[in-house]
Amino acid sequence: MKISVIGCGYLGAVHAACMAYLGHDVLGIDVDQQKVDNLNAGKAPFYEPGFPEKLSAGLDSGKLIFTTTPQAEALKDIEVHFIAVGTPQGENGAANLTYLWEAVELILDNQPNPKAVIVGKSTVPVGTAQQISARLETYNAENGTELSLIWNPEFLREGFAVEDTLHPDRIVYGTETGEENWAQQQLDKVYEIPLGEGIERILADYATAELVKTAANSFLAMKISFINAMAELCEATGGNVTTLAQAIGKDKRIGHRFLGAGLGFGGGCLPKDIRAFGARAKELGVPEAVSFLTDIDAINKRRRDRAINLSVQMLDGDVKNKKIAILGAAFKPNSDDIRDSPALEVAVRLQDMGAEVVITDPQALPLVAAAYPQLSLVENWEAAVQDAELVVLGTEWDVFKQLDPVAVAGIVSTRKVIDGRNVLSPQDWKNAGWEYHGMGRS
Ligand code: UDX
Repeated sequence: MKISVIGCGYLGAVHAACMAYLGHDVLGIDVDQQKVDNLNAGKAPFYEPGFPEKLSAGLDSGKLIFTTTPQAEALKDIEVHFIAVGTPQGENGAANLTYLWEAVELILDNQPNPKAVIVGKSTVPVGTAQQISARLETYNAENGTELSLIWNPEFLREGFAVEDTLHPDRIVYGTETGEENWAQQQLDKVYEIPLGEGIERILADYATAELVKTAANSFLAMKISFINAMAELCEATGGNVTTLAQAIGKDKRIGHRFLGAGLGFGGGCLPKDIRAFGARAKELGVPEAVSFLTDIDAINKRRRDRAINLSVQMLDGDVKNKKIAILGAAFKPNSDDIRDSPALEVAVRLQDMGAEVVITDPQALPLVAAAYPQLSLVENWEAAVQDAELVVLGTEWDVFKQLDPVAVAGIVSTRKVIDGRNVLSPQDWKNAGWEYHGMGRS
């Protein structure tokens, strides 16, 4: 199939490369010239395991090309346009849909193939697909075309983006009536290989398809905040949240995944999506339906406060001029994404309080340097913990999880550690003479 992917950020670039891998001819479109140049040169604009290989393979095969200025001629041939632009947090937490509408108009301005399918992948407030569909209907009436919209939310996790794109847990299609149509048949052709592997395709109306995405992210955020709320109770009672999670997770109805208590969630999706969901519910006149999301957000933010307060407490009431090593800056391991990163927020706040913060991360340092020039960055954990009076593990990269407490003890000034992700062995660290504090794991 001849397809375009509009918006080549995390979602779009990975989607474009994976679609080329599935054998389609893909035109990736983005307004950022630097990003497009990098992608065309085979340079991944972000750290994502497996993506550089798929990108190079697509470029080498001639099936993948990126541009900022799509020629009308090229667009005319496109059978399926994917919209994968960002929908960042705007006013009052609501999603900003400027880029989304620009993408729709970009297609329409270029006299598209009269029977093109437009596929929305961006995360949007419920009701958006209906509005885009109405815009297409007006265009169709004026131009004698049959453009049709399918809402096809994306569930990819950073760090597993290629895997999640090629082998998703499910594929959701939202159509106008929730029924099959010719546009859905076109999209089936695009996804012929994954569908052929037996991945379930769930057909829904537009509203449901949009809600599936926000509901899934809200549920995940809820699970994390639930266990972090239990961590607060463990902190108040001397309980151990890791054991608690292990025990409740044994119940198959609950399950173990996303019950990792610690510094809480960050990144470009969960925090913004729950706020946008709350804002949309308010607009729809049903704010109470998701009012619990406000608590979920608040519990999540309190974990960062907890790490700060614990740092102050462990440094005898004052962090001023104390050297603190922060291990990890990315919002989670296997990613260089620092958007709303809990580890980074803790680092910045401790520095603002007068601490001498040194931070390291296996992948995110270039982005941290650009966004937070005031922070002191070092290449590896050895340099970070040198003479430290407190070590804070903020992101659970393998290299930090595997630290040998005896070896680290020989480098620091004082043996004090906060395990912000509950991934170290308290016993091993205590045996090596450390004052160890996890999160809800006294
Ligand atoms: C998320 C969704 O998982 C994905 O389906 C959606 O498409 C986009 O948003 P992502 O932002 O890549 O993906 O990260 P995810 O793996 O969900 O982790 C989010 C945050 O939660 C991270 O900061 C992570 O450290 C934190 N987390 C995760 C916990 O604090 N505890 C857990 O048990 C799991």
